[in-house]
Amino acid sequence: MTSHFEKVTEISLKRAIIYPDAEMHGQMSGFFDYGSVGSEIKRRWENAWREHFLSLNQNFHEIQTTIVMPEQVFKASGHLEHFHDPVAVCSKCGVSERADHLLEEFLGEKFEGLTVQELNALMKKHKIVCTKCKAPFKEIEDKSLMFPLQVGASEDKTIGYLRPETAQGPYASFKREFRANRQKLPLGLAIIGKAFRNEISPRQFVFRTREFTQAELQVFFDPKELPEVPFHEVKDYELIVLPVGAKDAKKVKCSKAVKELGMSEFFVYFMAKMQQFIESMGLPGKFRFAQLSDEEKAFYNKYHWDLEVFCPSFGKFVEVAGFHYRTDHDLGGHAAVSKENLNIPGKDYVPHVLELSFGVDRNVFAVLDNAFREESDRTYFALPQAVAPWDAGVYPLVNRESMPEKALEVFKALRESGIKAFYDASGTIGKRYARADEVGVPFGITIDGDTLKDGTVTVRHRDSKEQERVSAAQLPERLCELAATPQGKL
Ligand code: GAP
Repeated sequence: MTSHFEKVTEISLKRAIIYPDAEMHGQMSGFFDYGSVGSEIKRRWENAWREHFLSLNQNFHEIQTTIVMPEQVFKASGHLEHFHDPVAVCSKCGVSERADHLLEEFLGEKFEGLTVQELNALMKKHKIVCTKCKAPFKEIEDKSLMFPLQVGASEDKTIGYLRPETAQGPYASFKREFRANRQKLPLGLAIIGKAFRNEISPRQFVFRTREFTQAELQVFFDPKELPEVPFHEVKDYELIVLPVGAKDAKKVKCSKAVKELGMSEFFVYFMAKMQQFIESMGLPGKFRFAQLSDEEKAFYNKYHWDLEVFCPSFGKFVEVAGFHYRTDHDLGGHAAVSKENLNIPGKDYVPHVLELSFGVDRNVFAVLDNAFREESDRTYFALPQAVAPWDAGVYPLVNRESMPEKALEVFKALRESGIKAFYDASGTIGKRYARADEVGVPFGITIDGDTLKDGTVTVRHRDSKEQERVSAAQLPERLCELAATPQGKL
């Protein structure tokens, strides 16, 4: 039987959503392309993210910094010292696996954060062998996850690295941005861009890749005068949380979370905003904030909660984003290594950082995975309009009796009203509906004989397949109404 994962990835490959990079030359694992349909979905996800997070404060801005950064940056951030994973290499066939993941697969428990010695002992104790050739593994070693590169051709070899997270861009740019933005805190600097990690065993389609896109917001603030946030907006909103040691996730109102989770309103507010964003992506109730233990936390974090979404393809909750209180770890490190003074004016300390970090590829896949629907005669993605590749398809019922001309008129009018439509006149109308459903287009607009007589068109709804007649002149307005978003936001 074809699994949910196989069905979703098959459509993804067939309909140019996401596919392996440079396939004809044999894929290097961990690299994927977004095709003509996938690029639209990804772009819309990114735009929704921008709109949601950058509107939280007037002093939150988007910047674009370089992907290649000097070695000093990663000395300052701690990545050179700490950013590695334990690798187990098979003594016979040479296959390499992440040792903690291998143990997790065999023993069904989490082993993140253990030392190489502890992992080696566990591998021996449980006699873990290579799943492919059954030979034992060599001693586990830590391997850096960063991609180094030599910059320029001079003898003195300048070493740079592909950034393993977008976050270092805002830290390295902090001083200029702080000055340019009137030295006001909180200051938010966001980047949506590529990050690179030489993952030991890339897997699960776009879930663990070597090149991926992150959408990260770094909020710089004074830790002794926490910024005010409009907490009243979220006080009755319920977070779904799985604190360390708890067996099951529970709902907790933001007003109570402050005490229960031991975090001030400032932090709880941003957790709520992250959860609300995930919810707006058609994933209501299918997520939770899982708290990481001291052993599991990233080396730079004081608070660390993973935002996890349930994916039917994997049959479990998987991490798609992180809520990280990085304290003064990064600015402190950059100040020390560069000898620049990054202190808050008049204070003897640097700003602290709260990071909201999203993996775009994981989020796009989680949305698709949860939106996948199968009926006897069709499959479709019940995508929220905000991330559908197009808002509507426009179809002449037949290619005669001036229906194509009228349909092109309707198509043009929709585009002019800011509605993202496409025109399709090939194949039976049933096939055209099916093609659009398969990639999640919410509405089909059909121009038929009646359109020529009374100026009305058919609007077909993707999920229910219901149809309604609407005057062509009223169509943009009606589509906006259906999407329940103000015109222009479709
Ligand atoms: N700046 C903080 C940071 O990078 P992270 O937990 O390492 O934190 C943040 O990564 C997000 O980036 C993750 O929640 C995940 O969605 C995404 N991500 C991380 N590694 C990835 C990989 N190898 N492939 C795809 N997405 C990845």
